[in-house]
Amino acid sequence: MHFLPEAIDQYILAHSAKEPELLAKLNRETNQKILQPRMLSGNYQGRILSIISKIIAPKSILEIGTYTGYSALCLAEGLAANGMLHTIDINEELYDFQQKYFQASDYKNQIKQYTGDAQKIIPEIKEKFDLAFIDADKPNYPAYINLIIGKMNPGGVILSDNVLWNGKVTTPVASDDESTQALLKYNRMLVEDERLETVILPIRDGLTLTRVK
Ligand SMILES: C[S@@+](CC[C@H](N)C(=O)[O-])C[C@H]1O[C@@H](n2cnc3c(N)ncnc32)[C@H](O)[C@@H]1O
Repeated sequence: MHFLPEAIDQYILAHSAKEPELLAKLNRETNQKILQPRMLSGNYQGRILSIISKIIAPKSILEIGTYTGYSALCLAEGLAANGMLHTIDINEELYDFQQKYFQASDYKNQIKQYTGDAQKIIPEIKEKFDLAFIDADKPNYPAYINLIIGKMNPGGVILSDNVLWNGKVTTPVASDDESTQALLKYNRMLVEDERLETVILPIRDGLTLTRVK
């Protein structure tokens, strides 16, 4: 969803950090070869993920929803020395594509790929996280936050993508629209949970920044 006039979007891009060449290549190849390339975070949101990660300098990152690996590589840019990013995707057909770009990056020894259902895999990762990015199937967002709150270090940050869902969170919801219903529940859960401090940023399709107290 575009919240800003096109000219403002262009101005912001022209005055923000540039997309690294490897990510530009990954972006192009995703658009050429992979279904639903709009799922990829893209240049602007990618630079936001990168700078947030660099500010935090996490030792451990969890990503739910790898897709072709774009956001994973952006988040990895901020990893502390010897830090590790754990990224999960249910679609096994994406594994080789992700692997190719992870191996070509500076973070090839700092990214662990998992293939399968995030709800099964998260409990198996015996780590505490400084940063998490939730960007998978929307109906399971409430389940994901319940699974990861206890796995976050104090002061840890959880980012959640698509929380405005193309503006559908502010219009009447169809009874069969599972994703919007789940996101309405999720956004309420985050703001009402006393263990968390949350702001929604009107970036792209809505990006929530949550700090675990
Ligand atoms: C929006 S895409 C992720 C985009 C990626 N984070 C980026 O910005 O480049 C969502 C991904 O979540 C994955 N996914 C959907 N349901 C899942 C589940 N139950 N467990 C793990 N991954 C899932 C999909 O296969 C898809 O690749």
